[in-house]
Amino acid sequence: MKYALISDIHANLPALEAVLDDVARQGVDATYHLGDLVGYAPWPNEVVSLIGARGIQGVAGNYDSTVAAGYKHCGCRYEDPVQEALSHESFNWTVQHVGADAKRFLGSLPFRLDIATAGGHQPGPRLTLVHATPTLNTLYWTEDRPADFSLKMAAHAGLRPGDIIAFGHTHLPWYKEIDGIHFVNTGSVGRPKDGDWRAGYVLLELGTSVAVRSIRVEYDVEATVGAIRQSELPDAFADFLRSGGRPVPRA
Ligand SMILES: [Fe+2]
Repeated sequence: MKYALISDIHANLPALEAVLDDVARQGVDATYHLGDLVGYAPWPNEVVSLIGARGIQGVAGNYDSTVAAGYKHCGCRYEDPVQEALSHESFNWTVQHVGADAKRFLGSLPFRLDIATAGGHQPGPRLTLVHATPTLNTLYWTEDRPADFSLKMAAHAGLRPGDIIAFGHTHLPWYKEIDGIHFVNTGSVGRPKDGDWRAGYVLLELGTSVAVRSIRVEYDVEATVGAIRQSELPDAFADFLRSGGRPVPRA
């Protein structure tokens, strides 16, 4: 089986379209999303409707569940007060612009998906999908977490050796195998933070072994930059996309 795993699209429609085109060329059996469909860019409704139209199943990101529930903020972590203020602007803009259908779709997303990759009647690895961790969709599961942390999360999800758990939320892709369990952070389609502006996703191939490939796809980033600048969203989000999340040096 070959899967495409896409996460943290964050309302960036050109990035999503480029990724879906690339996925189509790869010939996958199924595509799943790992949440955070909206926030930070001006196409929340279009992204939700494309995901729905393609029948792509997935889980709720913190942005999705907080927008759907009308919560006071996105549950995001802020590096400093400036980031916090920008984040609130993005959240309020998104809440105001998400239509009723998109809101209903976001509210219908489950916290977690478990896929029996070999079908239900024969043994095979399980693929578990969550947005951030199996305990909370706001906790950052970064590559530098100790093995104990990852194994605790795996135990919480009931994973066994050979199983795979995929998640996003940090916007930084990584992959590790610990005690036979595969931990896959898929990175971000629409708002990478690793200094590479290109849209990111993961191809997961299950055969005699598990193969995880982190893919980067060029897209029309200037289209998104222009649309952010024309919207009431903060211009800083445009600079962020161009630099792949690295702070732009100020003169
Ligand atoms: Fe995100």
